[in-house]
Amino acid sequence: IAGNWKMNKTCQQTRQYFEEMLPGIDCEGRDVVICPTYLSLKDAVEATAKTNVKIGAQNMHYEESGAFTGEVSAEMLKEAGVQFVIIGHSERRTYYAETNESVNKKVKKALLSELTPIVCVGENLDQRQKGETFDFVREQIEKSLEGINDERLVVAYEPIWAIGTGVTATSEQAEEVCEFIRGVLGEKCKENSEKIRILYGGSVNASNIKELMSCKDIDGVLVGGASLKSDFVKIVNYE
Ligand code: PGA
Repeated sequence: IAGNWKMNKTCQQTRQYFEEMLPGIDCEGRDVVICPTYLSLKDAVEATAKTNVKIGAQNMHYEESGAFTGEVSAEMLKEAGVQFVIIGHSERRTYYAETNESVNKKVKKALLSELTPIVCVGENLDQRQKGETFDFVREQIEKSLEGINDERLVVAYEPIWAIGTGVTATSEQAEEVCEFIRGVLGEKCKENSEKIRILYGGSVNASNIKELMSCKDIDGVLVGGASLKSDFVKIVNYE
C-alpha cells in the first residue's frame, strides 16, 4: 500500500504527519510505502526508521550524475535511505514529457541500484471510451519494461480518468485491466509474473479499499489524495 504525496507537505508538515500517523499504522503482513517530495525524504526516512513503513521517491534520473539541472540520481536516493521509486506517473508523462523510452531507462537504473520501481501505466478517458484501453496499456508495458524480467517490479494500473477525480474505477474495471496486465507480464516475464506486484491507483479511499483488495490480480494500491490525510491509516489497516 503506497502513498504518493505529489507536490504536498513541507519538511515540517512531513514530520508532523508521521508523528500523528505512525502510532496508528499497523504494517503486520502489509508493505507500506510513503512517497514524499525529494526535500522531505530525509525527514521521512528518519521518522520511520524504527518502523516497517518504507520511503519512496516520486521520480529519478537514469544517469549516474552530470549536467541534468533539477534532477536527482538513484545513488542520491539510496544514500538518503529511499527504497522505492515511482516511475512514469501519468502526471510526469503529461506535464514533463516522460515517455515509455525514458521510463524504461529509469526502471533499469532503479533495479540496478536496488531501488524497487513502481511503474505506472493507464489510459485516459478518451482512450477508454474508444475501447483502446487494452492496446494502450499493452504498449506501455511492453515498451516501458522492454528487456526487463525481474520479480521485484511493481506495476501500478492508474486509469487517468480516475486520478484525483473522485471517480474510482469499479472493482470489475480495475480487476479486468490488472488481470490483463498479469497476462502481458506472463508473456514477457514468464514465472516472475506471478510474483510481480500489481497495484491499482485512482481515487482509492477508506470506503473502496476492501473491495479493490479482494480482487484476484490487485495486490495493492497507490493512493494519492487520501494518503495526505488520516484516511491513510484506515486504508492501511483495512480489514
Ligand atoms: P488519487 O491519485 O488517489 O488522488 O486519485 C492517485 C495517484 O495519482 O497515484
